[in-house]
Amino acid sequence: MLSTPLFAHSGSGASTDLALKGGPPVRATPWLDWPVWDREAEKPMLSILRSGNWYRGDGHKCEEFEQKYADLIGARRVIATASGTTALITGLHALGVDAGDEVIVSPYTFIASYNVIFNQKALPVFADTNQETFTIDPLKIEEKINERTTAILPVHIYGLPADMNRILAIGKKHQLPVLEDACQAWLAEYDGKMCGTLGELGAFSFQNSKHIPSGEGGALVGSNDALMDRCFAFHNCGRPYGASMAGMGQNAVRGSNKRMTEIQAGILLSQMKRARADADKRLGNALYLDSKLKDIPGIIPYKLADGATRSSYHLYPFRYKKEHFDGLSREKFRAALQAEGIPNYGGYGKQYYDGLIEDALGSRGYKRLFSAERLNRYRDELHHLPENDQLTEEAVMFFQNMLLAERKDMDDIVRAIRKIYENRSQLV
Ligand SMILES: Cc1ncc(COP(=O)(O)O)c(C=O)c1O
Repeated sequence: MLSTPLFAHSGSGASTDLALKGGPPVRATPWLDWPVWDREAEKPMLSILRSGNWYRGDGHKCEEFEQKYADLIGARRVIATASGTTALITGLHALGVDAGDEVIVSPYTFIASYNVIFNQKALPVFADTNQETFTIDPLKIEEKINERTTAILPVHIYGLPADMNRILAIGKKHQLPVLEDACQAWLAEYDGKMCGTLGELGAFSFQNSKHIPSGEGGALVGSNDALMDRCFAFHNCGRPYGASMAGMGQNAVRGSNKRMTEIQAGILLSQMKRARADADKRLGNALYLDSKLKDIPGIIPYKLADGATRSSYHLYPFRYKKEHFDGLSREKFRAALQAEGIPNYGGYGKQYYDGLIEDALGSRGYKRLFSAERLNRYRDELHHLPENDQLTEEAVMFFQNMLLAERKDMDDIVRAIRKIYENRSQLV
């Protein structure tokens, strides 16, 4: 039984006819569009455009962004990159991840976290997910380490910090560097420190859907000068950079072009101004949702990992247990929510079966780099991710822009879920 009366704040949601069955939806008001900008942001962009200095070698916006982002997240050094993907590739290269190596990574993530490892011609080795926290289960990492393992890549998915104390301890014990995929975790905190600043390196994304958006964009964060010099050099065509590379010839190291443009940096400088206030607003609304949703049978909000102090809520995730809804499938539940005016998302699927892994493993290069025995064992291990498999079937989430609305809008979300729960018999 629910402890509070249904439809307490009733409004249009008072009908017991589900919107999917022709009843009036709980909510007809649209949610905030994303991204958002104002007139104040237009002037500096116009001046970058008119200057013709669109490349970082000619302007100072990328440098300014790097300094301000470092201040925002308490990082020692930041390198602006073209995207989160390029930040991760730069980091993996600088950490020495090479062809034939293995990198331990969370299976529950955006596909870029797999792809960047394949880019290095290395093997992404999945340690199962902790369903409660949505992040890599540190207890599953050590069994995956072998003589080819060169790094650990935990992902702070949806902004939920991974269990970094345990992960860093494993890294230290096995002398493996930790590259944090913080591409969804701006201003998320673990143990009072910002995600992305805890491991050897951290990578961020500023793609258009992100909380600090610039169409495309990224950043690599670290505190070790020699390592960050190597990162800078790699992202800038291999040109030596910083005191640790002083005296080296112009083409002494390998590189690529992963640079951010001045235009991207200009957009970020204006978007960054609202990041802190937005993050606080999302947090307040998310905590409110936590307190309400946990009382609805079958709805289990995310749990923060041990030591995590704050999520960034790139998405607000929970697990949907259909057995409490008389077997109503997640897909039908999601459709019913959508019909009630509550947009939602089912999160990542079992993407290790989608084809990209076989595309890599079946290639000439991978067959040269890894023994047939290793590749077959790897294939087999993909079928032993039970927690992750289950999470992909039960997760439901709300978008970050919804968390920028008001408390009464959060009540709409709660009311819609309760309405579906109470009237589930209409759908099963
Ligand atoms: C977890 C994660 N890793 C990596 C990336 C890659 O970032 P980008 O899209 O900026 O290349 C993203 C972007 O969505 C992401 O969410």
